[in-house]
Amino acid sequence: MSFFSRRLFLGASLAGMAATPLALAQEKLRALPEDPAFHPDTLFLTWLRDPTTTMTVQWVGTQGETSDNRIFYRPAMSVFNVAGIASSAGTAAAMSNTLGALNDWQAQKPVAKPYPMTDFKVFRTELTRLLPGTTYEFRIGRHSPAYRFRTMPAKSTDVISFISGGDCGVNAQAIANNIQAARQCPQFTVIGGDLGYDNGKSVEVSMAFLRNYSRHMVTHDGNLIPMIPCIGNHEVDGGYNKPRSKAPFFYALFDGLFPETGYNTLDFGDYLSLVLLDTGHTSKIGEEQTDWLEKTLKARKDHPNVMVVNHVPAYPSFRSSTSSTPDKKGTGEDNRKYWVPLFEKYRVPVVLEHHDHTFKRTKPLIDSRADDNGVLYLGDGSWGRLRAAKSPEKLSYLATSGTEYHLSLHRIQGEERFHMALDSSGKVMDVSRTAQRKAGIVRVGE
Ligand SMILES: [Fe+2]
Ligand SMILES: [Fe+2]
Repeated sequence: MSFFSRRLFLGASLAGMAATPLALAQEKLRALPEDPAFHPDTLFLTWLRDPTTTMTVQWVGTQGETSDNRIFYRPAMSVFNVAGIASSAGTAAAMSNTLGALNDWQAQKPVAKPYPMTDFKVFRTELTRLLPGTTYEFRIGRHSPAYRFRTMPAKSTDVISFISGGDCGVNAQAIANNIQAARQCPQFTVIGGDLGYDNGKSVEVSMAFLRNYSRHMVTHDGNLIPMIPCIGNHEVDGGYNKPRSKAPFFYALFDGLFPETGYNTLDFGDYLSLVLLDTGHTSKIGEEQTDWLEKTLKARKDHPNVMVVNHVPAYPSFRSSTSSTPDKKGTGEDNRKYWVPLFEKYRVPVVLEHHDHTFKRTKPLIDSRADDNGVLYLGDGSWGRLRAAKSPEKLSYLATSGTEYHLSLHRIQGEERFHMALDSSGKVMDVSRTAQRKAGIVRVGE
């Protein structure tokens, strides 16, 4: 964890500024005590709404563990922030006003909700009306270190970069990939199910997952990396077709993003939509979820970047996609029946899949067959768990596969997307590119 240093702050960030704002900033900083005693080891960031203007701070702890648990936050006064804000403000007077505003800590009290099977609480604070593309610092009360985060930009004029993966667990391999993920300095992380493998029963595992994430998912410049989850079978006691109460830790942490169902969309301004699905764990694949998915994709059919995230793959790389017995479905059968036609119809370019614990990239597919206008499926969740992948020779829909722990680094650059599979040493295993949807065409290339 990189703690905010007052000396660094003053030395590096205020260089070149006018004397009056500097003196003002120093004066206001003196008013803050510097006692980094309160440092919850499960602290992490996530989102409930638009990541360009909001951020949600969460941790699991106990009532009364610190005398004041309000979140104090403000834009960090880095040269970059001030220059950006001032140039958007336009005038010297506006810059002076901005500097005044930068010094004002705002405070917001967290909501405390029960953490199941324990006396712990989930403390949640959603910060809203934030400035886009801005680094903020925050403290918990007056007795924590200062932490940092950066809001997503208002527009995707620069590269948008994020990590995805799934099937983490809490072992050494999962930690190694956490460290590798943070090294890429992503703007956020998508974890597509099977987070810690608490199975809806283990408090210890759920907390260990958060502790690992909290400890390692910090960029080299000190920004905490927000987590966007989707539900997997190992969040649920029983795995499939269960009520939300059987996924107690997942929903205690993430019912802000998933208040009623196991699926939702997170829209980043007007440039990115993540459609997060529930592959039958606490919401049925068909029926309401499919109706919702059609409406959701239809409303975004002209959207530049709509990416779907689901746990169980439509196109598995380890399990069998067909069943040998009539009473049991093949893996991904319902995805292919209900969702894949919608992905194809509404020209979704990329679906992130997990659950099979391999690396895979399919060919661009329409109706399970290779098609230049098809949908790319990337997976299959080997952040910290591994199985032997089937080869493209055995599965005609695969372009490539591998039996390596991995995560994916996605870069959105204008009208193109690049998807890199990295192993846990950071080695590039695979690169693919998806181009913007144009006139019903999804172009996919290596
Ligand atoms: Fe898994
Ligand atoms: Fe799974």
